[in-house]
Formats: sequence, structure tokens, C-alpha cells
Amino acid sequence: MKLWEGRFDAPTAGDADVFNESLSFDQKLWRADITASVAHVTMLGKSGILTEDEANTIAEGLKSVYADIESGALRMEGAEDIHSFVENELVARVGQVGKKLHTARSRNDQVATDMRLYVRASADHALELLKGLVSALVARAKETAGYVMPGFTHLRKAQPINCAQYFNAYSEMFLRDMDRFAALRKRMNVMPLGSAALAGTSWPIDREVTRSLLGFDEVSQNSLDAVSDRDFVAEYLFAASLTMAHLSRLCEDTILYTSDEFGYWNIPDAYSTGSSIMPQKKNPDIPELVRGKTGRVYGHLMGILTTIKGIPLAYNKDLQEDKEPFFDTEKTLFDCLSIYTAIVKTLTFNVNAMYDAAGGGYATATDVADYLAKRGVPFRDAHAITGRLVRYCIEKDKTLPSLTLEEFRAASPVFEADVLHAVTTRASAEGRNSVGGSSTAAAKAGIAAVRKRLKKY
Ligand code: ARG
Repeated sequence: MKLWEGRFDAPTAGDADVFNESLSFDQKLWRADITASVAHVTMLGKSGILTEDEANTIAEGLKSVYADIESGALRMEGAEDIHSFVENELVARVGQVGKKLHTARSRNDQVATDMRLYVRASADHALELLKGLVSALVARAKETAGYVMPGFTHLRKAQPINCAQYFNAYSEMFLRDMDRFAALRKRMNVMPLGSAALAGTSWPIDREVTRSLLGFDEVSQNSLDAVSDRDFVAEYLFAASLTMAHLSRLCEDTILYTSDEFGYWNIPDAYSTGSSIMPQKKNPDIPELVRGKTGRVYGHLMGILTTIKGIPLAYNKDLQEDKEPFFDTEKTLFDCLSIYTAIVKTLTFNVNAMYDAAGGGYATATDVADYLAKRGVPFRDAHAITGRLVRYCIEKDKTLPSLTLEEFRAASPVFEADVLHAVTTRASAEGRNSVGGSSTAAAKAGIAAVRKRLKKY
């Protein structure tokens, strides 16, 4: 039965029904919908709008619908949307009194409330999964503090870095993502219920009762805005998009670093795939898929921004289009965070290969220039002298650490024997002791800073 058929002479066309329906996807809201309805009817009873008996009968009926959906005994089908489905089922169970549930309420404030409850729980779950990922990154950082690996700019070897410093970099990104989910969760925790269709209600409702039963921090202050606002969905999709951006960077590093050409890390067989034709292949399908799925999440963000643009006040059916992009984003985000946490936990490291690679490409040239500058040579001149030394190395097919003291001194008399140590890969990484830098001590302090911020969650 349709909730609104009284005004109509003829039934809607079959294709119009199919086009209009949302039950096939908004059934995901069933828990939120029934929970909000129980709170609403409890309030109607407490406010004397319904008798206590009526309110109790309806609440019990709603709870039996909840139990049967949960157990799988009740299939959600044959209605326009989840709100109609629950109400029809309620009336079938408790009779005429069930029709009083929708007093002082509209599907407009109902769906806005349901979505907020759903998205709030989803933000909590995203936070939990992000916490798991950052914890895994912290564990790997602790284990690898002191391993040296190449650091890149422009994907050219730049300077040696600490492996822990590398993992800390991703922890920082994902911690900011956590901050974003926590902030949007707080901002969205405002209850639209009680706004009714758009203008509020003449019934003597007590919004404070429903607010506290549903765990909202506040009630909305403008009914027109409350029924038509989907900012919170857009904010969630943006936070998810940035999280995917960060994940996809980590994926890209993983794909590069586990290739034969780099050879720094390995993805275990359990998280690798093979080729149907090339027997030797071990492919990084999982990081590639996570990187690829970033596109659909960005697409959903653009989708919702476009959907909410230009919608006249107040509710319009366009807003039903918030759901599928949200549900797909949520699933994609959760799947990607879970699988990547497993990858981070199981990566293995080729410690010597990383160390040797870190010293290649004249990666300690900055240390040579700093060596001179610390002994009074203006940095610009030190840079030029070192540049000439690098050119000398290229011509003679040598590395900076393999140069003799005589070769250094031919470039500048300022060089002393201790340059032979300063130019090594280890000394280079350990020398950068600035906050957030590549020394083991700085990387360990970085781990402590990450753990401290993680404790907030
Ligand atoms: N399925 C609708 C949605 O998701 C529910 C609200 C319907 N309200 C209305 N006035 N037709 O937005």
C-alpha cells in the first residue's frame, strides 16, 4: 500500500513505480528507520499525543519487525521505500493503531534522521578501521626504525631516509583523515526529526526526548534546512576521498617498491596474484585495485555535489540520490582500509637492498655540501663544489663514498678525513636529527607523536 494514495484516482504506472522506488537500496537504513520510529512513538506517548497504550503497542510492533528483519524471517520487498515498508508491516502486525505512528512526522524529516543515524555509525566504523591501519603502520615503524631506505623527490633518489620515518608519514596522513571523520561526525550529530515535511508541526512534540533517545547532541534549528540538508553526506564523501587519495599513494609506493626494478619490499604470496599466461609473474593486484577504486569514490563525491547543487528549498526527490553513492563509497572505503591493513601487516623488507639503494644516485651529495657549509663555505659555493664532485664521479664511474680524501681535497681544501664518514649512507640518514627527520632518534620521536595522537581515538 502506498502511504499517499488517498488523493489519487488511478494507480501509478508500473514503470513509474520501478523508477521511483528506493527500497532496493534504502533498505540498508532499516535499523536506523526503526530505531528512529521507536524514539518518535515513545515521544508521542510521553507528550500525550498518543496514549501510553497506543505508543507501547506501536513500539512493540516496531521491535517485532526489527527482530524479524534481523533474523532474516522478513524480506524487505513490495513497498516504495524503507519507511513505507516498515509502516505497512507495522500496520499488518498491530492493526489500525499502527497508522498513528506517522503523527507529527513526515518522510522528509524521517529520511534525513535515518541518514544521519546511518552516516554517523559509518563514520564511527571508518574511524575504527583507520585506527587499525595507523596501529599497523606504527607497528611496522617500530620494527623498522633504523632501517635506511631511499627517499625520493620527482621519483629520483634524493636522500636516504629512515624506514620508520616513511611509515610515520602515512600515519600522519591517516591521522588527519581520522580528525576529518571525527569533525564531520560531530558537526552532523544534529537531529532533523520534528521538522516534519518542511515547516515544523503544530503538534506539541518534545524534541528533547527524541534527541536524547537517539544520541544526537542537538536538535536542528531550522526545519527547512533540516529536511533538505545533505552537507554531511558530501563531507563524508570528501573525507573518504582524501583517505582513498592517501591509500592510493601508499599503493603506488608498494607497487613500485615491490617491483623487480626496486626490490625493497615484498608482498607475501597470500596477498599477491599470478598471470594466466606468464608463469613467472607475481602481480600486485590488491594495491592496484585499491588505487583504481579511488576513482569511483571521487566520482561519488562529484555526484553528490552536483546532486545538491541548485535544489530549491526545501525537500526535493533529488535528495534520494544521496544514498547509492554513499553506500558504494562506504563499502569501497571499508574494503580498502581492511585489505590494506592486512598488506601493511604482512609486508616484508629487503633490508640490505634498501640500504644499498639508499646510497645510490649520489644521494649523500647534500651531506657533502652541508659538510663544507658547516666549515664556513657559503652554501651556494658548497653546492657548486659538490656538483663538480658528482660530475667527476659520473665521469670516473665512482660513487661519493668511494672517493679518496685526495679526490675530495682536489675539489676543496676544506675537506678533512672525517668527510669519508659524513658521506656514508648511514651517517647521512642519522645526521638529520631535526624534528620529523630521518635519524633513528627523530623517527622514534615521530612514532611516539603518532601514538599520542592515536590515543585520542
Ligand atoms: N525515499 C525518499 C528519499 O530517500 C524518502 C523521502 C520521501 N519524501 C517525499 N516527500 N517523497 O529521499
